Amino acid sequence: MTDYDSTRTSTGHGLSEGSYLDSHFEAMKPEYEAMIRSVGLKSGWSVLDAGCGGGSFLPLLAELAGADGHISAVDLAPENIEQVDSLVENKGFPCSIETRVGNLTSLPYEDNCFDAVWCANITQYLTDDELGEVLAEFCRVVRPGGLVAVKEFDLTANLFSPFDQTMIWRLYDAARHHIPPMQGGLRTFQLPTWFKQAGLISVGFESFLSERKAPLRPIEREFISTILQVHPQAAASVDLPEQDMVAWRALADFDSPDHILKHPDFCFREGHVVVVGQVPGN
Ligand SMILES: C[S@@+](CC[C@H](N)C(=O)[O-])C[C@H]1O[C@@H](n2cnc3c(N)ncnc32)[C@H](O)[C@@H]1O
Repeated sequence: MTDYDSTRTSTGHGLSEGSYLDSHFEAMKPEYEAMIRSVGLKSGWSVLDAGCGGGSFLPLLAELAGADGHISAVDLAPENIEQVDSLVENKGFPCSIETRVGNLTSLPYEDNCFDAVWCANITQYLTDDELGEVLAEFCRVVRPGGLVAVKEFDLTANLFSPFDQTMIWRLYDAARHHIPPMQGGLRTFQLPTWFKQAGLISVGFESFLSERKAPLRPIEREFISTILQVHPQAAASVDLPEQDMVAWRALADFDSPDHILKHPDFCFREGHVVVVGQVPGN
């Protein structure tokens, strides 16, 4: 099982290290593919993968961009960009791919140089101020008429069972004040309003659910174990009723024969939202 702390990048983001991201993508692949195909990216386009991580989305982005297209991939963590560079070198993508280390709050690209931006699983890490800056940067680097697409997980839809769901909600409510991805994950359903405030037009969104039920495939167990681990760790950092803490401590004991991952009715549900808007003009 991947330890949560080992999923942190050199730039300090949890659940962001390349091999963890690969396991997440593989465990939820059909839904992730459906999400990216829903955006409307066109063959021949130049697309920015903003916050590319280890490059999990690149094969599909490159397929959609096609031989005449181009992908630029940018991320804050140098080791993730190194992983993407070796992927590009070893895999052979249908279109050209260029990488850069950079911050989404001040993108290292000229105005109007992309047809679209794809940004997956990043806004959870951004404060409200940073989210405004990042959306303004997306509007700057995408040409008039081009698309800005943000995919984010929606914490309001996350559940696992058998477990008292109200304990999950109490934890998220208590922990959101000091764990940025929890606050960011609870903001996801408001992203369409943020898009409109940033000046984007024709804003639309679609929700997706990933559900995984027992018996889990090994890759699903790997990914879900890491996500489950986050919960008791967060619980230990906040003030919760003792009966909640008993349940969270039990969840942390993965070796117990009674752990919910071994329950025949175990189910994990992850919610996602894909928001797409158009840069005005043309
Ligand atoms: C959860 S990962 C998502 C990676 C990839 N988009 C995916 O879905 O597999 C979050 C990524 O965002 C990057 N990141 C976080 N804040 C960033 C920022 N301000 N600018 C650029 N990259 C950032 C992290 O380095 C990490 O690679």
